[in-house]
Amino acid sequence: MKEKLNKLRDEFLEQLAQAKDSDYLHELELKYLSRKGELSQIMRSLKDLSLDLRQEIGELANNVKLELQSKFAEMSQTINNYSNKSGKIDITLPGGRIPQGHLNPITLVQQEMEDIFISLGFKILDGPELESDYYNFTALNIPPTHPARDMQDTFYVDLKNKDGQYDLLMRTQTSPVQIRAMQKYGAPLRALIPGRCFRSEATDARHEHTFYQVEGLLIDKNINFSNLKSLLEIVGQKLFGQNTKLRMRPKFFPFVEPGNNGEYTCFLCQGQGCRVCKYTGWLEIVGAGLVHPAVLKAGGLNPDIYSGLAFGFGLNRLAMLKYNINDVRLFNNGDLKFLEQF
Ligand code: DAH
Repeated sequence: MKEKLNKLRDEFLEQLAQAKDSDYLHELELKYLSRKGELSQIMRSLKDLSLDLRQEIGELANNVKLELQSKFAEMSQTINNYSNKSGKIDITLPGGRIPQGHLNPITLVQQEMEDIFISLGFKILDGPELESDYYNFTALNIPPTHPARDMQDTFYVDLKNKDGQYDLLMRTQTSPVQIRAMQKYGAPLRALIPGRCFRSEATDARHEHTFYQVEGLLIDKNINFSNLKSLLEIVGQKLFGQNTKLRMRPKFFPFVEPGNNGEYTCFLCQGQGCRVCKYTGWLEIVGAGLVHPAVLKAGGLNPDIYSGLAFGFGLNRLAMLKYNINDVRLFNNGDLKFLEQF
């Protein structure tokens, strides 16, 4: 009797696992679970057993019955959920929605930038966030004691090198990867370098100690200022629309000569003047210039043969403008109410 029960149980479960529609289920139910079904027949025959056996087998039979009923109910539920009226599984029904995370707005603008520059033949590179003083400053034409270091105060690692100098720091800019890229790939070179940067800032709505930049570097023979201007014009039009204009005003950056601030016509007021552009009609977006010969040399290139252009965008600022975000601290604070809007 025990064997019979176990066999019946295995048979039932095996057939149940193959159920695909409610007709099949119904037949299974009739065959095994109904009043005239096989399980009931076994139950009925219990009365012919001795008292002891009846108790033992009765308990087993009851357990088997409960198990089969619950497995059966589970399967009918599944088939009901996925079936249309005809009782067949409708494979054209949309699946259940799996909740997904959201991309940070910084990632969104970074991807947009990468798409633009990949289409212009640039490769995407990255470099270390924990950088040496040499790559972050010295190789970029900012020697120790140069006052330009004061523009970018950062976090130093509490570890002195053999000359008694603090050597490791959290990079203040993505520009050090210019040097690493030239050393690794030589010339000609087109690279876009997005990445996280750090500065020792007192934070407020417009300043953050951790932020994102994207650096661009193009090295070849005979690169001149018109190349820089036309490249940044194309990028501005792709980012902010066909009518976007660029103006470049001199600004000192130690690693370029001449150095510039690139400003685009405000995409909100089309240059008329509004709150976003502080009524100037222009938005300061990008630092840029022609690569300084000292930087080419540090990258292992001969400045008599090669020249280059470089630029750096602040991704936080771009994302703030694009998505109308009024506090830079929102990017890193992990607040889902903020992130789920993108
Ligand atoms: N690294 C500069 C900064 O953090 C931005 C920059 C300016 C990058 C001019 C460049 C450049 O490549 O040419 O302020």
